[in-house]
Amino acid sequence: MTVKVNHQDIWNFVSDLFHAAGTSKEDADLVADVLIKADLRGVKSHGVSRIPIYIKRMEMGLVKPAAELKILHETPVSAVVDGGYNLGQITATKAMRLAIEKAKKTGVGMVCMNKSHHYGIAAYYSQMAADEDMIGFSCANTTALMAAPGGASKAIGNSPFSFAFPAKEQLPVVFDAACSAVAQGKIIVANINGQKIPDNWALDPEGNPTTDPAQALKGFLLPMAGPKGYGIAVVMETLAGVLSGSDTGIHLGSIYNDLENPQDCGNFFMAMDLKAFGDAEAFKERMDQYILDMKSGKKAKNTAELFMPGEIELKKEAQSLKEGFEIEDDTFAPLIELAKKYKVELKYE
Ligand SMILES: NC(=O)c1ccc[n+]([C@@H]2O[C@H](COP(=O)([O-])OP(=O)(O)OC[C@H]3O[C@@H](n4cnc5c(N)ncnc54)[C@H](O)[C@@H]3O)[C@@H](O)[C@H]2O)c1
Repeated sequence: MTVKVNHQDIWNFVSDLFHAAGTSKEDADLVADVLIKADLRGVKSHGVSRIPIYIKRMEMGLVKPAAELKILHETPVSAVVDGGYNLGQITATKAMRLAIEKAKKTGVGMVCMNKSHHYGIAAYYSQMAADEDMIGFSCANTTALMAAPGGASKAIGNSPFSFAFPAKEQLPVVFDAACSAVAQGKIIVANINGQKIPDNWALDPEGNPTTDPAQALKGFLLPMAGPKGYGIAVVMETLAGVLSGSDTGIHLGSIYNDLENPQDCGNFFMAMDLKAFGDAEAFKERMDQYILDMKSGKKAKNTAELFMPGEIELKKEAQSLKEGFEIEDDTFAPLIELAKKYKVELKYE
């Protein structure tokens, strides 16, 4: 069963809830914006389903809602910042703003950050740059979820990353993926909703393929594209984690399983101003043509349309903004409890 919500009502709830739990109103708005963007796009694994664990970690003092970014090292094009263990949606939005500011002045801005926290959908931040006529990039490291090829223990996270490219009339191209066959969040959602998963998403603790999300959560995620996905995960973790000085690999705690320490997660953000490469409008026109060329390719039988990266999610977002979106009961029930606990309004049908 599901409940239907209007995006503005649920956005207001999320912002009010985080504010009531100790975040400034301005920062609570940032959290709401990132989480609701995920649900609007149908990326339910990284939307409001994460609220209970974020609030729990705030209540336990493992997330520091008053922390501001601290610059540890800076040049005109780069910065290393300390996120202060605040929520990732807040630290990441502010770090990407800093990268964009630098790109406006120098053509490129690169910011890496330690002491961040789970930041939700990587695309939110890359698109902040695309909205400013820049090419955007964001990535994060995560708690170890995958084994190295041939390995039999968790070694590395699935390091989500996103590139966003603006276009003129067409939708921007926004590639956003984790380096595992699927994001762990999809397995968490399947587990909450009592659904089976395909047998090529994960292995059980003994290393066997499984369709049981509970067994998968005890075992290992499989990388996308075998050793290539593993290699890309290493690249992303090196940028987000080794460069920033955050925890990495087996040392990076899980937001669910490590309830004793703040999560020292790492991020890397880059904004490249189109003007640094010539005429921005000409680039966007070429991008439009490129997108049209790609979409007009020959379709396989039973395929109605060819999509660019991000297009399915962006079209879903436009539809959800008009029609609202649905949230599964098992995801919604804890939100009702939190609304009561923090005395904030939660409207739904
Ligand atoms: N913060 C974290 O720690 C964390 C960890 C893992 C994942 N995530 C987030 O979870 C989300 C889901 O990740 P995922 O790896 O499951 O993504 P996914 O597999 O759903 O999509 C990956 C990419 O493929 C594109 N795509 C999908 N179907 C397509 C089609 N038919 N044609 C063309 N392009 C298509 C999507 O638009 C997207 O850009 C992402 O937003 C990611 O950032 C976050």
